Amino acid sequence: MDESPKLINIGLFGFGVVGQGVWKNIEKNRTTLEGRLGVRISISRIVVRDLTQKRSVVVPNDILTTDPDLILNDPEIDIVCELIGGTDLALKVTESALKKGKIVVTANKALICEHGEYLFDLAKSNGAQYFYEASVAGGIPIIKTIRESLVGNHFSLIFGILNGTSNYILTRMEREGSSFDSILVDARKLGYVEADEALDIDGIDAAHKVIILTYLAYGFWVKLKDITCEGIRLISQYDIEMACQLGYRIKLLGIISKDLSDESLTVRLHPALIPSTELIADVNEVYNGISVTGDVVGTTLFVGRGAGQDATSSSVISDISDAVSLLGNSNSTIQHASPISYFENQKGLKLRTQGELESRYYVRFDVRDEEGVLAEISNVFAGHHISFSTVNQKELEDNLALIMVTTHLINEASIIKACNEVEGLNVINKKPSFIRIFNPFEFLS
Ligand code: HSE
Repeated sequence: MDESPKLINIGLFGFGVVGQGVWKNIEKNRTTLEGRLGVRISISRIVVRDLTQKRSVVVPNDILTTDPDLILNDPEIDIVCELIGGTDLALKVTESALKKGKIVVTANKALICEHGEYLFDLAKSNGAQYFYEASVAGGIPIIKTIRESLVGNHFSLIFGILNGTSNYILTRMEREGSSFDSILVDARKLGYVEADEALDIDGIDAAHKVIILTYLAYGFWVKLKDITCEGIRLISQYDIEMACQLGYRIKLLGIISKDLSDESLTVRLHPALIPSTELIADVNEVYNGISVTGDVVGTTLFVGRGAGQDATSSSVISDISDAVSLLGNSNSTIQHASPISYFENQKGLKLRTQGELESRYYVRFDVRDEEGVLAEISNVFAGHHISFSTVNQKELEDNLALIMVTTHLINEASIIKACNEVEGLNVINKKPSFIRIFNPFEFLS
């Protein structure tokens, strides 16, 4: 019997950069996509805030509406894409769609971080699904990879570059020797920086992604307030130059490491010196890179565009395809794995505090260029049992200097105490700043 392909209706909430990308790219590859999925796909309704707004992607007027109920109450729409961002209206429409048993696809990392535990439970209790590939690392299929492809692994270390804007700024600071402030101005002009700049510059966007990856890999929700989250604002060209001289690059890294000895997790997001020989140290510009180490697979690395219309819409379309597959259709040439939310529910895992972190550190002291300064600093550090590994000094104008040291392994509580104590010395011009040194090798041996 010759059955015509089933029609799957999709409702979009939000028609901004990502929403328009989803429309544009479904149209671009419609024949191939529908052929692969064995269905016809229709974005039959789009809810927008402003019907009159000019958009670069033109859609039939009659599918645009300002009324959420035209999607939420339409029994013909099984797949809802929440692409409005924020955590207010987005929460309401997600809740409502899940309660009606619809499949919700999202790119909204902030919403998942704030309400994920509730929303995944809600999906489960209503026989709905909540898909979120586009919420982490744009076009890199890292959610599906961890959830499905690496399902047979325990993860000891997941780390990576998860914010394209910060990576762009750091890359240009390194290449051009320019200051953070001047490159930030360019990044704004290029439209790379979020309207709320703190999301990019203070690490919050990347920290949200780290929290989602932690949930995915360990079934363990951490709160933003409970993890180290530091952006790139305090990184100077001197730090970048010194890092290069010492054989490192500075990258904004999200790091999730599991200590098997006491079943604890360390979850953090901060700039770090990473050996320049690491492949991820070469992930530049707006690209993202994620390394996942599993006990079965070993170390894997994923690199790609972490933001932008096309990359992000590629991930949304991937989730739509999974949703289509779940809705059941015998003509599909693709078999999707079960969309389990997580596969390792380790609620007993303990989250390590910031002070408990053991690391090596790079510390920069802005000092008056006088005799005995280095001795004073090193006395304070010795008092906290911190041993220097390298020491460098750079002479500046106006009788000022920078002393830049790296330390041997020590806990972070000691570094913080030592830096606070040094800040009180007469010869110190500014609060000392430290950057953690991250050598993946030390976590894998
Ligand atoms: N501002 C983000 C970035 C966009 O630069 O990576 C994706 O979350």
